[in-house]
Amino acid sequence: MNRELENTRHAATEELAEVRDLTALDQWKVKYLGRKGKLSSLMNRLSEIPPGERPAFGREANSLKQDLTAACQVRLEEIREALEAEKLVRERVDTTLPGRPLTGGNLHLATKTLEKIIDIFTRMGFQVLESPEVETDDFNFTFLNMPQDHPAREMWDTFYLEGGNLLRTHTSPGQIHAMRRFHPNPVRVILPGKCYRYEAVTARSEFMFHQVEGLAIGESITMADLKGVLISFARQMFGEERQVRLRGSYFPFTEPSVEVDMDCILCRGEGCRLCKETGWLEVAGAGMVHPAVLASGNYDPGKYTGFAFGMGSERTAMLIHQIDDIRYFFGNDLRFLRQF
Ligand code: PHE
Repeated sequence: MNRELENTRHAATEELAEVRDLTALDQWKVKYLGRKGKLSSLMNRLSEIPPGERPAFGREANSLKQDLTAACQVRLEEIREALEAEKLVRERVDTTLPGRPLTGGNLHLATKTLEKIIDIFTRMGFQVLESPEVETDDFNFTFLNMPQDHPAREMWDTFYLEGGNLLRTHTSPGQIHAMRRFHPNPVRVILPGKCYRYEAVTARSEFMFHQVEGLAIGESITMADLKGVLISFARQMFGEERQVRLRGSYFPFTEPSVEVDMDCILCRGEGCRLCKETGWLEVAGAGMVHPAVLASGNYDPGKYTGFAFGMGSERTAMLIHQIDDIRYFFGNDLRFLRQF
């Protein structure tokens, strides 16, 4: 019987050395240490041994069991380590590979254009102000010389909100905010921001777009100042050689009112598709601040004069880049946006 213990130790040790994975180790365990394994069956045959030798046999068998259990534990650790190492090799990160390029975003064309416009006017001494996108009827219309039922209100299709407020249809309400804030000091501000119009969306009109409002108030401001500022702007924004003309127009909040045109940036006045054969492109609405508007802003129209202008930022970008559809701006198509 002791012989058999020795044989078992021998066979088990040899077989364990061959075990390479966890399944094989389990099988080995069942075979030697399991409930119906080799060792148990040897123990069960204790009765075959003469009573005097039983204690010695028992000791031997127990020490074999301990040895095999310990060996099994060691082997288990070895297999785990091997698996771990293999996994490390398999999943190794090659830090020498070139990195994946980050697709950096860029500013939206509407924002970029706004920033360029702002840059030009701030260098001419205008300060940037913000004014609300949700306005009262008074600020959007009444204070701008358009009382209730004034037919000129028809010029602006308006989103009305519950409670009587509205989404501003132009940045001109900012004129009133600016005057009330700076009175009685001179004013030189630009007010960039979003405007909203309740209009069908087409290639030429969006329900939301950006404008930049300009306002200068002082004691001896004339239309020549307005023209000088606009010529300087047009040349910095659209090219050194630009010619500017003022064409009579109508806005309730300016008197006189003008449309600001410049010679076509494509054909330089010859007439082409961009300028619809007229040789001129419209870039802004403008005029001398109406006395009623000065009064709404608390400036005495007998003492102060001023000019105001408003231009569309998308429209400006469309002229520069010859974009023929305003809907591209807010269509969220990266193929369009990435070009600028
Ligand atoms: N607010 C006018 C518009 O949206 C533009 C404008 C601004 C005209 C200032 C004159 C003076 O059409």
